[in-house]
Amino acid sequence: SLLVPSIIEMAKAPSTSIPSRYLRPDIEKAVVPDGGQVLDIPVIDMQKLVSGGPNNPEIQKLDFACKEWGFFQLANHGVDSGWLETLKAEVDKFFKLPLEEKKKWWQSPGNAEGFGQAFVVSEDQKLDWGDLFFMLTYPLRLRNPRLIPSLPSPLSETMERYTSDLNNLSVAMLEKIAEALHMKAEEMTEFVGEGRQTIRVNCYPPCELSDQVMGLTAHSDATLITILLQLNDVDGLEIRKDGKWVRVHPLPDAFIINVGDILEIISNGRYRSIEHRGTVHPVNERLSFATFFGLAYDGELGPAPSLISEQTPAKFTRVKVQEFYKGLFARKLQGKAYIDTF
Ligand code: SIN
Ligand code: FE2
Repeated sequence: SLLVPSIIEMAKAPSTSIPSRYLRPDIEKAVVPDGGQVLDIPVIDMQKLVSGGPNNPEIQKLDFACKEWGFFQLANHGVDSGWLETLKAEVDKFFKLPLEEKKKWWQSPGNAEGFGQAFVVSEDQKLDWGDLFFMLTYPLRLRNPRLIPSLPSPLSETMERYTSDLNNLSVAMLEKIAEALHMKAEEMTEFVGEGRQTIRVNCYPPCELSDQVMGLTAHSDATLITILLQLNDVDGLEIRKDGKWVRVHPLPDAFIINVGDILEIISNGRYRSIEHRGTVHPVNERLSFATFFGLAYDGELGPAPSLISEQTPAKFTRVKVQEFYKGLFARKLQGKAYIDTF
């Protein structure tokens, strides 16, 4: 990928000097639902998910959310909220380090890990108004040995704990999703293999021309599930619901979880991976932390055999996971199946 300037630095200059490759005057605005309220996406309670017996109504709620929305909030997730405040403060400090210090972790050509932007492939494509920090975190043996240990302390330890907590949460969540889909639990664990977690921490500086820039271009995630934590109280995530862009207003400390392309395939299309985008606030900086959970590279991907029947024939062909990931690079960079996670 090509290297691009830091938006945190660019945002310090007057908006008249913003290069044209950041300006998109044709951005479609989000709708304000009737009555002017924010449309609330379903809230799932993790405690109720794990403690319920057979015919657990929370499992049915989960099925509905994945099917009709492709997005839900997860409350009572068990990750300590006091501790999440620590994470938020440390990430904020990390982005605020002087540029000279951050250069130590800047992306290098051909390596997406570190600070920078994702999927910059040409000099004339439109660019996103945001800086990100991207990293492969699981399996442990694939971690860049120079990256996490070199992060400032205590962020390094905090990241270590957060990624470990979220890895466990992802596994638990997928077990419940398999239950909601009525597929066999072993089928899900077989697809997942040792799993693959990547993280992307986002900083979207404010922009006076907020209606002409985009923090994160509309895309769907090439994941099983993505778990997003908004790190401050500035909203900006929008999802395409029934053809219209709708703003998401997360509950404090709830995770926003979305169905990714891989889960859409495994569910044989019952669950849908929904397009979403990150918008920019005119005055306030927005911070978010996305954790992507995907498949190990050595397996296969296709609809779960137990979900294929005469009434529900396979909608996707079975492929090697490696082929799937390779194919994603070749696809269009915008809209659904924009690749967001490597
Ligand atoms: C965000 O809400 O900041 C980003 C969501 C995403 O990773 O797609
Ligand atoms: Fe995404």
